[in-house]
Amino acid sequence: MKFHRSLFTLMLLAFAATGTFAAAAGRGGFRPGELWMDEKGVPINAHGGGILLHEGVYYWFGEHKIEGDAGNYAQVGVHVYSSRDLVHWRDGGIALTVSDEPKSEIAKGCIIERPKVIYNAKTKTFVMWFHLDKGRNYGMARAALAVSDKATGPYKYVGSFRPTQGVLPLSFDSGAAPDPDRLKDRKQFSEAVVAGDIVWRDLERGQMSRDLTLFVDDDGKGYLLTSAEDNLTLHLHELTDDYRGFSGKWTRIFPNASNEAPALFKRAGKYYLFTSGTSGWFPNAGRSAMADSIWGPWTALGNPCRGTERENATTFESQSTYVLPVPGRPGEFIYMGDRWRPKNAIDGRYIWLPVEWENNRPVLRWHAEWDLSVFTRHNAFPSTGKDLTDLH
Ligand code: GAL
Repeated sequence: MKFHRSLFTLMLLAFAATGTFAAAAGRGGFRPGELWMDEKGVPINAHGGGILLHEGVYYWFGEHKIEGDAGNYAQVGVHVYSSRDLVHWRDGGIALTVSDEPKSEIAKGCIIERPKVIYNAKTKTFVMWFHLDKGRNYGMARAALAVSDKATGPYKYVGSFRPTQGVLPLSFDSGAAPDPDRLKDRKQFSEAVVAGDIVWRDLERGQMSRDLTLFVDDDGKGYLLTSAEDNLTLHLHELTDDYRGFSGKWTRIFPNASNEAPALFKRAGKYYLFTSGTSGWFPNAGRSAMADSIWGPWTALGNPCRGTERENATTFESQSTYVLPVPGRPGEFIYMGDRWRPKNAIDGRYIWLPVEWENNRPVLRWHAEWDLSVFTRHNAFPSTGKDLTDLH
C-alpha cells in the first residue's frame, strides 16, 4: 500500500491545528485488549479485520459480532469504520449485509470471516474478499467476493470460489501421481501432504480457502493468501487485474505446517508474513517468515513475540489478522490481532502493537498503552541503519 508523503505532511498540519494529534498521542493512544470506543462511545465491532487506506482516510473492515455463541456466525455482516488518525473511528455502518433469503450463500447465520478490502484503480471499485463458510465444521472453505464503488459500501455480493480449479501450483511436480491411500495412512500422511496429495484431491473442485488476507504489491498486482489443504498449507493466489478473480498463478507456502491467520507485508523490497498455528479460537504461538520474492522461497523466522513465556505461547493472547503500514513512516508497521471471546463473541478485543525490528526480523513486544509517536522517536526501534527514505 502506498502512502503519499505530502498527504502525511498535510495530516500533521491538520493534527497540529486541531489538537487531535495531542489527543491521539496521550489519552487517545492504543490500549491493546481494552474496550475501544468509536466516536459515539460504542465499542468498535470489527473483528478479524483489515484496513484500507484510500485518499487519506483509513477504513477498518471487520466481522460484526453479536452477544453469545450466536455471535460466532454472521448475523449482521461486515462492519466498516473510518478514521484519519487510526485512533478515533467513525461508525460507517454495515458495508456488506447478510441476506434474509435463506437460499443465499450469505444468508443470516452463515460464516463470514476476515473480510479484507482493496481498491482497484483500473475499475475504480472497492473489492472485498472474505472467508465464507457454513456450520460448525467449516466444510465449505470458500473465498467470497463483494464489490462496491464506495469505500463504505454497500457492497454487492458477487459469489464464492474454490480458487484455481484444475490448475496446478508453481514448482509442482505434475509427474508425481497421487496415491489416494497415502492420505488415509497415518504413517504416510505428512509425506503425502507435503508431496501435494491434497492439492490433487481438490484439483477439479478447486482448492480450499479459509483464513485469508489480501495484499497489493507496489506494481499494483493483487494477491489472496489463504489457509488451504485442511488448514495444513498456505496458498498464495495472484488475482486478476480487476482483483475479482484468480489469474491461475499460484503457489504453496510451508506445506503441512498448519499456518492460518495470515498477514502479509513488505519492507525494503522484502516480503514478511505473520501467521498463527491452528487452534481455533484459542490463541497459540505466532509465527513469522520472510522472502525475497512473494513467490518464495519463504524462510521461517520463528515466533515474533518477545514477552513472557505465556505471552509468547499465545501471541499476547491474540491471533494475527492484518499488518498495517504506518502513515508516513515507510518501513514501520502495526500488528493487528484478535483476542477472541467465542462464548460472547461481541466482547472479542483488538490487540494492536507496533512491529519492532531485530536484525531485520519483525518482532512484537507488549505495550499496555502506546501511540504513533513510538515510530517517530529517534531510534525508537533501531533496525536497518538505513535512512527511512530508502525503505520504500
Ligand atoms: C480460527 C480462525 C478464525 C475462526 C476460528 C473458528 O482458527 O483463525 O478466523 O475461523 O478458527 O474456530
